[in-house]
Amino acid sequence: MTEPVFPVARAVPEAAPFRDAMSRVASAVHVVTTLGPQGRAGLTANAVASVSDTPPTVLVCVARQSRTLAVIEASGIFCINTLAGDDLDLAEIFASRRGIEGEARFATCYWSSLSTGAPVLSSAIAAFDCRLVAAHDVATHRILIGEVVGLGGAPGAAQPTGLIYRQRRFEAV
Ligand SMILES: Cc1cc2nc3c(=O)[nH]c(=O)nc-3n(C[C@H](O)[C@H](O)[C@H](O)COP(=O)(O)O)c2cc1C
Repeated sequence: MTEPVFPVARAVPEAAPFRDAMSRVASAVHVVTTLGPQGRAGLTANAVASVSDTPPTVLVCVARQSRTLAVIEASGIFCINTLAGDDLDLAEIFASRRGIEGEARFATCYWSSLSTGAPVLSSAIAAFDCRLVAAHDVATHRILIGEVVGLGGAPGAAQPTGLIYRQRRFEAV
């Protein structure tokens, strides 16, 4: 039997090399918001993907210990706000890197709403207003499936700059 040309990984990778590999994959950065009985909540997320356009459907993977997750599940609504290149501060605030929690995270920007009432970031390059239609637990996270019931955001320039996360750093592209 001939040796494979490329080395074949024989063991299931540990978490650290998996995270290192994922750190080389550039991803868009979003703030996922919601509105519950106690007010607004939100977190920074890059585990966001389009699922279908018929009907328009998206997913976001949220850690089960996230405080925002409980609010989304109570309200059944969320909005995915895709960040512009100059919204690095917002990404850090909603990732709990500035010591700002809960409603106070919303203080530095302008917000509106679409049909669900979830906060829509005025400077977002796109915003996907969603009703939660399904949730699935996988490993440490809960995959939230949202039917998109409204679109928003301020695209501004014809080619707006987006915020990406790569090599554990934010970059405007
Ligand atoms: C670039 C970046 C991307 C992130 N993506 C996710 C994500 O997709 N899902 C998630 O649950 N947490 C993600 N986080 C971590 C959350 O933003 C962080 O845990 C936050 O503090 C959760 O806030 P909460 O507990 O108030 O909901 C990300 C953080 C950063 C910096």
